[in-house]
Amino acid sequence: MPIVTFIHPDGTVQKVEGQEGDTILKIALESSVPMEHACGGNGFCTTCMCDVESGMDNLSPRNDREENMGVTDDPKRLSCQSKVKGDVSVKLLED
Ligand code: FES
Repeated sequence: MPIVTFIHPDGTVQKVEGQEGDTILKIALESSVPMEHACGGNGFCTTCMCDVESGMDNLSPRNDREENMGVTDDPKRLSCQSKVKGDVSVKLLED
């Protein structure tokens, strides 16, 4: 199963196992990793945005919702739209 490494703003590192095909947001919330998700994971806000430190190739390609929200440049991704298919490391952004 893919390992998702969450790097908190204070530098704390949390590694969790996730199901392939689940989004970063789902894996975070199931593991009690605090991640904002104001629109409920529907791609209509940017509160779940993260920086992908490594493993961009192990995520689903950017979709229309990310493009519509202007999340088009690496390393930014919307956690609720990014499905995991392998190990990935993401940095949580400050509020
Ligand atoms: S939770 Fe709103 S865009 Fe991801």
